[in-house]
Amino acid sequence: MADNGELIKRIGLENVVMAESELSFIDGRKPELIYRGYDIKDLAEHSSFEETTYLLWNGELPTKDELDNFRDQLTSQRALPDTVLGLIEDTTEDAVPMEVLRTAVSALPVYADESGSHTKHGRSILAKIPTIVAAFNRVRNGHDPIEPREDLGHAANFLYMMSGDEPKEEHADVFDTCLLLHADHGMNASTFTARVIASTQSDMFSAITGAISALKGPLHGGANQDVVRMLLDIEDPDRPVDHVKEMLDEGKRIPGFGHRVYKVKDPRAAILKRISQDISAESEGPNWYRMLDEIEGFMADEKGIAPNVDLYSGSVYYSLGIPVDLFTPIFAMGRISGWVAQVLEQYESRRIIRPRAEYVGDRDLEYVPVGERE
Ligand code: CMC
Repeated sequence: MADNGELIKRIGLENVVMAESELSFIDGRKPELIYRGYDIKDLAEHSSFEETTYLLWNGELPTKDELDNFRDQLTSQRALPDTVLGLIEDTTEDAVPMEVLRTAVSALPVYADESGSHTKHGRSILAKIPTIVAAFNRVRNGHDPIEPREDLGHAANFLYMMSGDEPKEEHADVFDTCLLLHADHGMNASTFTARVIASTQSDMFSAITGAISALKGPLHGGANQDVVRMLLDIEDPDRPVDHVKEMLDEGKRIPGFGHRVYKVKDPRAAILKRISQDISAESEGPNWYRMLDEIEGFMADEKGIAPNVDLYSGSVYYSLGIPVDLFTPIFAMGRISGWVAQVLEQYESRRIIRPRAEYVGDRDLEYVPVGERE
């Protein structure tokens, strides 16, 4: 049997390669993240979420006509079937947003004609996730859902459907960049889940429902909400590090730090940090950028642990007026791009993913009939 440390790493599948992929690559030491050969920094600066999604799904950047056509296809898919809207309207006030999202996505093919190719199904889900999340937020606040607007881009339309107000262009751009930064990220837990489901040749809706379920956990997508909750718990905004020290003394992990692959600062965190700095400068209330920056310095000095994507994204979403418990659904709103691409890639391999467990239980026990057991 492997020694304990070795076994723990194997149990978490650390460094295990489970597929060949042309989609995204992380160099955790450089650090670098690329989508289909393009550096995330260039895409964040020049591309849009829709264009990056086209790139991930099709392998190359679109021409203008191809992009316009892709945008139109997405826009035409935004509205929800009445039955799914009804499901959302029937949710309780305290329903968990990720549970609502998971239920609504899994209900789509049950209540509407979702015939067509896997790509078409992926388009439908990607286009509808913002409508689901925004409708749920409206309903739980006692408002009617707002219908999608065809003249707004993917990011701007979500902010509009959530608040009822057309967002400022800069805010729509910032949100678009956030979605793009979350679009794909190698073999993370939710992507792996989606690929395992797809490897059985199950359908796109099932694969994405599984991915949403994996993303919900606090060690994956749930961490961005925990960052903001930590910031809200800090009693003295001038001494944020005291709070972090207390958390560490209690044996807690600090959300937004550490990563299985990055051994230095996640390049997405560096981009989000700049956005957080800009947006903090224009918003009222405690300067979260400054607090996070101090915490980042402390964690580097004391623990040698760098920020991940979740450290600064939460503060950006909060500044955009997005409720904290919607942060993980918003992660899904971006990551759906990569999930669909990864599922499509997985379908090309006809081989089921079926690993093994290392059995560490008892052997050779003698069966005792129930009446004779003590
Ligand atoms: N706060 C304090 N200590 C930490 C943290 C943290 N956030 N992350 C790692 N460590 C320590 C950990 O205690 C361990 O120390 P020791 O060897 O003394 O026990 C060491 O660093 C290595 O950690 P690990 O658990 O072996 O690392 P992992 O690859 O299994 O876990 C992780 C990666 C992301 C689950 C973990 O860093 C973590 O729990 N972070 C906090 C939650 C978080 O921010 N999650 C978002 C991840 S990025 C977005 C995404 O992919 O969804």
